[in-house]
Amino acid sequence: MAADLEKLIRKLSSTHSLSFEEYASLISDRTPEAAEMLSAEAVRIRRQIYGNDVYVRGLIEISSYCKNDCLYCGIRRSNTDAERYRLTVDEILECCNEGYGLGFRTFVLQGGEDRYYTDELLCNLIRKIKAAYPDCAVTLSLGERGYDSFRRLYDAGADRYLLRHETADSEHYGKLHPPEMSWENRMQCLHDLRDIGYQVGCGFMVGSPYQTAHTLAKDLRFIEEFKPEMCGIGPFIPHHETPFRSESSGTTELTCYLLSVLRLINPPMLIPATTALGTIDPLGREKGIQAGANVVMPNLSPVRVRKKYELYDNKICTGEESAQCRSCLSQRMQSIGYRVTVSRGDAKNFRKGEQ
Ligand code: 5AD
Ligand code: FES
Repeated sequence: MAADLEKLIRKLSSTHSLSFEEYASLISDRTPEAAEMLSAEAVRIRRQIYGNDVYVRGLIEISSYCKNDCLYCGIRRSNTDAERYRLTVDEILECCNEGYGLGFRTFVLQGGEDRYYTDELLCNLIRKIKAAYPDCAVTLSLGERGYDSFRRLYDAGADRYLLRHETADSEHYGKLHPPEMSWENRMQCLHDLRDIGYQVGCGFMVGSPYQTAHTLAKDLRFIEEFKPEMCGIGPFIPHHETPFRSESSGTTELTCYLLSVLRLINPPMLIPATTALGTIDPLGREKGIQAGANVVMPNLSPVRVRKKYELYDNKICTGEESAQCRSCLSQRMQSIGYRVTVSRGDAKNFRKGEQ
């Protein structure tokens, strides 16, 4: 391997930090040997913190209505072909009930930006979940809301919030989103969530249109500085009813490479091996864990709605056979020597440096 690349990896592994230029060359000069060295370091460092444990989250896709029009996303409002649905409070509680029995201790409520889910409705829902399952964490992934809304949901008991920043480069952000959406607002939301006290997750797609080693280096610098508790990355996959229908997908190779880099930037960070990675590669989630991820998020949505929450083409786990994603993923993790645990799965030494 090129001596420079090896030096960069050693530096990242020991200091958990690189400059913008160093991240950019780590990405653009990468080789299979570098990937191997990175993943070996990532797995070694993760094992010191988490052993062979993989954390699990039950993903409940509560609504496929969305007021936004992100150019990459299959449930954008301009997609008049998309079948829309929303789950009621009782339906969501039924998913949690089933999930609890299956060993989930974190429920992720994810959906498009849907005004039907008012603060009042969500607070009531969160209170009910926390009352019924006090040993569980509630994670929200419902897009951008205002400070007061985030605060109310937190006060009602929500523990975590996932809001991918999508790209840390504002110009790149503008090419992925319609003009009425703003990168500044996205970043403001992330800072608000952090100030309120949520455990915060950000993230981005790998291989999104117009992404470069430079925009990725900005993502990595942002993650290094913001220190989110969680970071979700998965390959971009085109959806046939979006303007990006003819763009190519991100790769397993670059996604896994970046998973290893993320692990070294922030060793205790919660990093999922995503459904998108399992979609572009039948063993994608296993490869993601072997590159340094430590979370899997099986789908817990009612099987009858799963096909309608189609952010990208050919999404896995949407058919009848996928009713049991929990056991499927446990087996998959076991097959590579890992163990899915029954626990909330909080980050170890949460907010490094502050506790
Ligand atoms: N391919 C991959 N990921 C996508 N997302 C949305 N559309 C796509 C797509 N076409 C991701 C976005 C969003 C998350 C919920 O799903 O990063 O934040
Ligand atoms: Fe859903 Fe395997 S994880 S079917």
